[in-house]
Amino acid sequence: MEIKSVGVIGCGLMGSGIVQMSAISGFDVIVREISEQYLATGLGKISSQLEKAVAKGRMDSAKQEEILARISGTTDLADLAECDLIIEAVTENVELKQETWKTLDAICPANTIFASNTSSIPMHIQAVVTNRQDRFVGLHFFNPVPVMKLVEVIRAATTSDDTYEAAMQFARSCRKVPVSCIDTVGFIVNRLLTPYLLDAIRALEAGIATAEDIDTGMKLGCGHPMGPLELLDFVGLDTVLAIAEIMYEEFKLPQYEAPEMLRRLVKEGKTGRKSGTGIYTY
Ligand code: CAA
Repeated sequence: MEIKSVGVIGCGLMGSGIVQMSAISGFDVIVREISEQYLATGLGKISSQLEKAVAKGRMDSAKQEEILARISGTTDLADLAECDLIIEAVTENVELKQETWKTLDAICPANTIFASNTSSIPMHIQAVVTNRQDRFVGLHFFNPVPVMKLVEVIRAATTSDDTYEAAMQFARSCRKVPVSCIDTVGFIVNRLLTPYLLDAIRALEAGIATAEDIDTGMKLGCGHPMGPLELLDFVGLDTVLAIAEIMYEEFKLPQYEAPEMLRRLVKEGKTGRKSGTGIYTY
């Protein structure tokens, strides 16, 4: 099946990146947000990223206009009815995702592929509320989406060969490297990354070093582009907490248990870069 048009649900950190990447790769994209204000913020982020690329001489303004012309926004899920592929990038909340899929299932034709960009929630829990479990797959991108090369393609037991192949092909068309994973909580990357990020907070809580020195240690000692505490702020402390809770619920292993400091910061609204404060202040 050939994918030409893409619908994206949510224009936050991940959603806006998926929209930008898809439009750059030549797909027509329509993104849905819950309010005009969120939509304007998300689309504004994409415009300014493209503006930066033009300023750096990486893109000319004709190309920029061509990409922007492929993107439209809406607050109405019904406007996504014509899309070949719909990628969901809403918050890590099972009920919210199920509600969104149930609504879309009633709106979209039977051949539309549904893909979740969840960081941790298995596909079968989402697909089960639809009448298209064979056309349901996971496409897990990484932040910042236009830059990070990886996509985890999650194949549920019910995912058909055609749907899986279409998802792999879509990832390749976006110049990403797809890796396959079974339908398990956290997939490959978060299964390994989450304990590491939580351990960095535990190290900070235990007072073994300053946040800066912990980050410098991992950047210069292990060649990571960002230290774990910087990365926590970058991904969003609320997102990491939600992932940790889902993983702890599933595995009941201490490495997935959220440290007190993470819970406290999220409760105080200190969710990282997006709120201006997290582990660090921006
Ligand atoms: N959108 C588009 N492009 C972006 C961008 C964004 N949000 N942020 C940075 N870029 C581009 C820059 O424009 C720049 O492009 P050029 O080379 O064309 O100039 C390039 O990326 C490098 O950016 P910078 O020079 O500003 O900064 P940098 O070299 O420090 O790189 C980084 C920034 C790519 C974010 C790098 O620090 C990095 O790789 N960090 C680790 C990110 C990571 O681990 N992400 C995964 C998080 S886990 C996840 O997402 C999944 C989950 O489920 C939680």
